Formats: sequence, C-alpha cells, structure tokens
Amino acid sequence: MTTVNVNGTKHAVETDPRRPLLDVLREDLNLRGSKHGCGEGECGACTVIVNGAPVCACLVLAGSVEGAEVTTIEGMDNDPVGTEIVRNMANAGAVQCGFCIPGFVMQGWDAVQRASGKDPETLRAELGGNLCRCTGYAKILEALQTTAATRPVSPIRARRPDPVPDLRLNGYLRPATMDALRDALRDPGEKLRVIAGGTDLMVQNRHGLETLTLLDLSGLTELTRIDSFDDRIEIGAGASWTDIRENAQIREHAPVLALAAAEVGARQIQNRATIGGNLANASPAADGVPPLAIYDAQVLCLSAKGERAVPIQAFITGPGKTCLEPGEIIRAVSVPVEHDRQDTVAFFEKSGPRKAQTISRASVACHIWTASDGTRAVRIAIGAVAPTVRRVPEAEALLRETPDAIEAAADLVRQAALPISDIRASADYRMDLVQGLFKRGFLRATQA
Ligand SMILES: Cc1cc2nc3c(=O)[nH]c(=O)nc-3n(C[C@H](O)[C@H](O)[C@H](O)COP(=O)(O)OP(=O)(O)OC[C@H]3O[C@@H](n4cnc5c(N)ncnc54)[C@H](O)[C@@H]3O)c2cc1C
Ligand code: FES
Ligand code: FES
Repeated sequence: MTTVNVNGTKHAVETDPRRPLLDVLREDLNLRGSKHGCGEGECGACTVIVNGAPVCACLVLAGSVEGAEVTTIEGMDNDPVGTEIVRNMANAGAVQCGFCIPGFVMQGWDAVQRASGKDPETLRAELGGNLCRCTGYAKILEALQTTAATRPVSPIRARRPDPVPDLRLNGYLRPATMDALRDALRDPGEKLRVIAGGTDLMVQNRHGLETLTLLDLSGLTELTRIDSFDDRIEIGAGASWTDIRENAQIREHAPVLALAAAEVGARQIQNRATIGGNLANASPAADGVPPLAIYDAQVLCLSAKGERAVPIQAFITGPGKTCLEPGEIIRAVSVPVEHDRQDTVAFFEKSGPRKAQTISRASVACHIWTASDGTRAVRIAIGAVAPTVRRVPEAEALLRETPDAIEAAADLVRQAALPISDIRASADYRMDLVQGLFKRGFLRATQA
C-alpha cells in the first residue's frame, strides 16, 4: 500500500512503490490530465508539482512521494496562479491540440512566480523543459507573460510536507534517518540499487524498476543539506541541482559549479536530479564533474563501517564506473573554499543538440583568479571528450605565466581531448568543439 496526497486528498493506493508516479496518477487515481509524452523527462507533458516544485511525474517513484504534497493540473482549479494562467491561455488562443498544455500550465505555474518582475528571457528559459508539437510557443509564452506581469503568488509554495517515516515495502526501502540508512548498508545484498532523484535510473531501466530491490535516499533530509565551513562547503549527495544553483555560498565560492547546475536538463530535472546521482552514474558527459574537478573536490563515501574521502578524479574510474564498494554510498561532496580571490574569470560552457535538456557533446569548466600577493591560479577541466573528465595542466601552466595566451591555451585544451566518435558527434568535431567552447567561455566571461 502506498499513500499519496494529491490535490489535498490522501489516497491509499494498492500499488508497487517502484512504479512511476505518472502511472499511478493516470491509471489508479484516474487523474488523466498529466500526459504521457516521451516518458523520459524530455517533453514536460507529465509535469506535476511536488512540495512546491515542478517535476516530471514519469521519472518519480510513487513511493518517493509518500508524505509529500502532489498537485496535478486537476488541482490547479483552486489555485490563483493556475486559474490565471488557464484564463490567459484561453484569451491568447494558446491551445491547439492541447496535449502539451497541462505540462505548460504546471511548469508555467512555477515559471511565472520565478520570472515576475524579471526580463522576458527568464520566463522563456524556465520553460525550456516543455515541448509543444503544434509549435504554439509564441502564444503560450504570451499567455504566461501576461500572467507573470500580475506578479502572482500561490499558497502551495508555502505549505510544508508531512514528516516522512521509514518506508519498508517488498523490494523497496526508503529510510528516514541516517541510522536506518546505515542499517540498510550493513547487509546490502547483491541486488540492492540505490535511487535518489531517479532521473538516470528510471530512464536506463525504462521504468522497469519493479524488478530491482531499491534503497531510496529521497526521504533523508540530512542528505540534502548544504553546509558551509571556513575551509569547505559540504554538499549533501541528495542536494538537487536547483538547491545548488540557488545556494549563495556555492555561487560565491564555487561559482562554476552553480553555473553548471543551471545547465543540467531543464527546471523539472534540476528540481529532482541530485549531485550524488550525477557522480555515481559516472557518465563522461556528467555536467557536475568538470566543476568539481577544477575545485579539487572530495567525494565522501559512507558505509556501515564508516566514511572515507576520495578525490573526485580518483572516484570516477571509467565510463559508468566508480570506486564505490558494495554497501557504500556517496554521503556528500566536499568542495574546498578559497577566500583570497580577486579578478575572477569563471565559466562553464557546454554544447549539445538542444539548448535546454541537452546531454553534453563537450563541456569546459574554467576558473581563473589572482591572490592578493599576485599569485595566479588557473583551473581548467573538460568533459564528454574522454572516458573521464580531464584537467588540462598544460593550458593551466601557460595561462598562469602568460594571461593573454588564450589562443595557445585553446589549442592545448583541444590536444587534451581524447574523444570517440559516437551517435552524438565525431571525434574531430568534439575536439574542435571543446577548443571553441574554451574561447567562447573566456570571451563571454571577460566581456560580461
Ligand atoms: C531529460 C534529462 C536531461 C538530463 N540532462 C542532463 C544534463 O544536462 N547534464 C547532466 O549531467 N545530466 C543530465 N541528465 C542526467 C541526470 O539527470 C543527472 O545525472 C542527475 O544528476 C542524476 O541524479 P539522480 O538523483 O536523478 O540519479 P539517480 O537516477 O537516482 O541515480 C543515478 C545512479 O547513481 C546511483 N546513486 C544515486 N545517488 C547515489 C548516492 N548518493 N550514492 C551512491 N549511488 C547513488 C544510482 O544507483 C544510479 O546508479 C538528464 C536526465 C534527463 C532525464
Ligand atoms: S512524459 Fe515527457 S517528460 Fe514525462
Ligand atoms: S498545443 Fe498541441 S502539442 Fe502544444
């Protein structure tokens, strides 16, 4: 039995907690307004609000929303922001076939509240995760701009979810305390799979998670903490990319990580996907890794026996491979803090097939600064152009001595790439790309 609180009503549903929330909403609760489009987090048609933040219901486990407040398009009937958006969409003639519209209303609900008082581009960027097959974008945007201008506020944002108890069902464990987590790690068994946001695992398993024994970390509020110390910032493995991009300490002390966080998928993905999942998934294209590499971050790995710190570059050992032992999880990532930084140049550049929701074909993370004694620090890392993320020490040394040698440094960045040709891009193209991204990033950061 899984209990879900949808649109203010608690439903006890006889279902497997490892099923996608979208299926439970549509099939068990007969709430068919949330649409099944791509099923992979790409189109936004299934967007619902969980505890005040839009997420893709196709990538959320039913079990992980127990205790949470879920709002679907049907629940927007009673919401001042939702009703205003629907009215403005009707007035603007924004609805064609209508398939995408519930998703646009749900993501629009968040977007108009974030964008109110800001420039129109903010609103457009917030909607990057939603597709309209009828290409009705102009009128959809017009309706949302009209709504944003009224500076709407929804009471849903202010409500807090119920405290989450341990949830232990057949094949599914969601611990609520670190002690319960350590117990689960003591005897993990061969089949145990950890799940956090589920945005990689759900897609990789084509939603067939009912065959896996899952340890769901999403109930552990301790894992979502971001703690700032004098010498480091400790980011809990369960911190989402939205938590990271909006954290003031990270923006100040590890700005390239905050910039990369804003580039991971679209808002629905950023609200759900975690930094721990990004690292453990160990994709060569993972956007979280190049920024952590330039800051010499440490991955804090927890097991029932204790904790160990592993340098980020040693943590990922190959595509899809990490040094995590059975019964070990990532608890947090520790990012060293440097207080003496002046004349900072910081950027994260990536390139992929689409502006939003794009898996990198190449990426560059760079942070350059000068200390008060005149010492220059240059940190450069490249992603998606080798089996694992690479630092570029040759380019770093050159720019330390000769700050203006950008062209020569870009050549060294190109030479550091060891790409393969695959379905996304040829090796030559990736080398050109990473060189161009370095130059573009530098220009943008210095001319801004
Ligand atoms: C539409 C879409 C767009 C995307 N865009 C991007 C993008 O632009 N850039 C990018 O880098 N990624 C992207 N991703 C991939 C994904 O969202 C990220 O890698 C995300 O950070 C994964 O986090 P998660 O919590 O969802 O991981 P999950 O799916 O929960 O887990 C991923 C893997 O990590 C393991 N795991 C999770 N947490 C832990 C932990 N604490 N300790 C040990 N193991 C753990 C799981 O067992 C699993 O093997 C995208 C995905 C989708 C669906
Ligand atoms: S169905 Fe497309 S994002 Fe969920
Ligand atoms: S109105 Fe048809 S998909 Fe958008």
